[in-house]
Amino acid sequence: MTSSQDDAKRLVGERVASWIKDGMTLGLGTGSTAACAIKALGARLAAGEISRIRGVATSFASERLARKYNIPLVTLDEIDTIDLAFDGADEVDRDLNLIKGRGAAQTREKIVETQAKKFVVLVDESKLVESLGTRMPLPVEVVPMAVRPVMDVLRLLGATPELRMGRRKDGPIVSDQGMWIVDATFDGINDPADVNQILLNTPGVLDHGLFLNMATDLLIGRSDGSIKHQTRA
Ligand code: A5P
Repeated sequence: MTSSQDDAKRLVGERVASWIKDGMTLGLGTGSTAACAIKALGARLAAGEISRIRGVATSFASERLARKYNIPLVTLDEIDTIDLAFDGADEVDRDLNLIKGRGAAQTREKIVETQAKKFVVLVDESKLVESLGTRMPLPVEVVPMAVRPVMDVLRLLGATPELRMGRRKDGPIVSDQGMWIVDATFDGINDPADVNQILLNTPGVLDHGLFLNMATDLLIGRSDGSIKHQTRA
């Protein structure tokens, strides 16, 4: 990670935080870029610039961060809609389709972000791709007993699947839902909509990291310190 990448993440985090108005209900993303936005939001709250905001967390990690910055939390049961959700991404294509889930939070992220009227994706330039599945593996969240059959389906789709293992834990990592993560490395995903449908129809797949037709806005932090704002056509 270069310091200009860190600066880009901070800039886009601060930009989206500057869009938040009193009383808004927010989706709080997961990962290092979303963390910059949560921190910037906390600073605006502490300074009295905004009030009465509420957040829905997309992971235990974002829940803990929101508590640290005194952002009130609610669950989806307590609200009807989310005004704006923000989150990072691992890959973004030119149509604003995404791969997410490096931090294994993709299932809750997708649940929360589909409830949002506006879904703002925050990235530095390194996340932009011509074609999804060229930079990062696609994370697939799987019921542990279904790992072998799900890996067979992924191989038929042309991917090389690998069970994600813990770093400071022996054995597979366990998601916030108690599931395992299979990382599927593709040589580019030719038809993301098809892969999406096949995976969702595969028994044992809880969800996966393809986020298609969901993002409404993209903020790209550039190395020269500027921000590019793109909206989905
Ligand atoms: C969490 O599981 C992911 O979906 C993250 O939102 C995504 O990996 C982006 O993370 P960074 O902002 O840390 O790159």
